[in-house]
Amino acid sequence: MSQSPSEESSTTPPATPVSPSAGVLYVGIDLGTSRTSVAASNGVRVTLASYVGYPKDVVSKKLLQRDVLYGDDAIEHRLSLDLYRPLEHGVLKASEEGSAEDAGNLRAARDLLIEAIHRARPRKDELVYAVIGAPAQASITSKNAIVGIARDCVDSVMLCSEPFAVAYGQDMLDDVLVIDIGAGTVDLCRMHGTMPEDTDQITLETAGDFVDGKLAELVRENHPGAQFSDRMLKDIKERHSSVAEVMQPVLVTLPVAGKPTEFDMTAEIQAASRAIVPPIVDGLGKLVGSFDPEFQERLKGRVLLAGGGSQIKGLDLAIEREMVERLGGGKVSRIEEPLYGGANGALKIAHDMPEEFWEKLK
Ligand SMILES: Nc1ncnc2c1ncn2[C@@H]1O[C@H](COP(=O)(O)OP(=O)(O)OP(=O)(O)O)[C@@H](O)[C@H]1O
Ligand SMILES: [Mg+2]
Repeated sequence: MSQSPSEESSTTPPATPVSPSAGVLYVGIDLGTSRTSVAASNGVRVTLASYVGYPKDVVSKKLLQRDVLYGDDAIEHRLSLDLYRPLEHGVLKASEEGSAEDAGNLRAARDLLIEAIHRARPRKDELVYAVIGAPAQASITSKNAIVGIARDCVDSVMLCSEPFAVAYGQDMLDDVLVIDIGAGTVDLCRMHGTMPEDTDQITLETAGDFVDGKLAELVRENHPGAQFSDRMLKDIKERHSSVAEVMQPVLVTLPVAGKPTEFDMTAEIQAASRAIVPPIVDGLGKLVGSFDPEFQERLKGRVLLAGGGSQIKGLDLAIEREMVERLGGGKVSRIEEPLYGGANGALKIAHDMPEEFWEKLK
């Protein structure tokens, strides 16, 4: 199976690792529905798909030679695995006292976190202090569950709201609007120098999975013979998505009754990508309109785009254009490393946090 480059686990040494306190490895973690990203004070940055799989039986275990598979590896071998995607909208799917499925999800979430930390390569003698970004609107139960699983893998932990981490990473904490476009949700959050409250946030379901669904619908309608899987379409989207007025033709080869055939999917890709713009601008309008009128203009001028879905080509300009039309102005910037925005910000919080704020676990 072909792998999308953005879904692979990868380790990228940054230009300048931050100097950690002796004996402590600080890690910032973004636990997402589709991807878990980690930025650590030793310079390691890793991202892996948020999937965990366990061999179904002795045959598959013998074949795979492993007890647990993670990320793309797990997706690739899914037919031989009990496969879990333990986070839904970035919230743990399970509660401590839940069903067998809940227990499976909890175990998978714990294993995912252990693996993410392991890939940050802590030294044997190092303590691990983690800041984990949770969705801004995550319930207390879900936050407790995340702290609960963190207990088994780190020495000290703090949770922070995900958009707060993104804004903190950019040194923009007052009068800024963060748009985090993930797989399951688009989270819009208004920041004004304090921790965001419920009224500062809007969550939309029109995120990456929604674009995939829309694209599948259009391809089925316009190219009835084309055969594809969800993953194949997602790969096509990640390679070509664009909301630009004029885009390069998107020519894709898909089988028709087993025979590779070329299709022009320019129009479908453009329409599916564009579908996420109007709901975002609706949400921005609500957050701006209910803000102190004196600061509304400033807020509109400081919109930050983050998350994997923000990589759609031309998206910043398209949102800006629609803001100008409907809200009378707007300035949208894309953060530099959209996939690591949450993790980088969480790492920065970890560094700046005084010792007494850490919850010690062991
Ligand atoms: N180049 C790209 N163009 C368009 N979309 C992309 C691109 N790369 C990744 N995506 C999409 O971004 C989404 C994943 O983004 P991200 O990793 O931020 O999500 P997440 O944090 O796991 O999800 P959530 O925030 O909903 O929990 C997926 O829908 C994926 O297809
Ligand atoms: Mg996310």
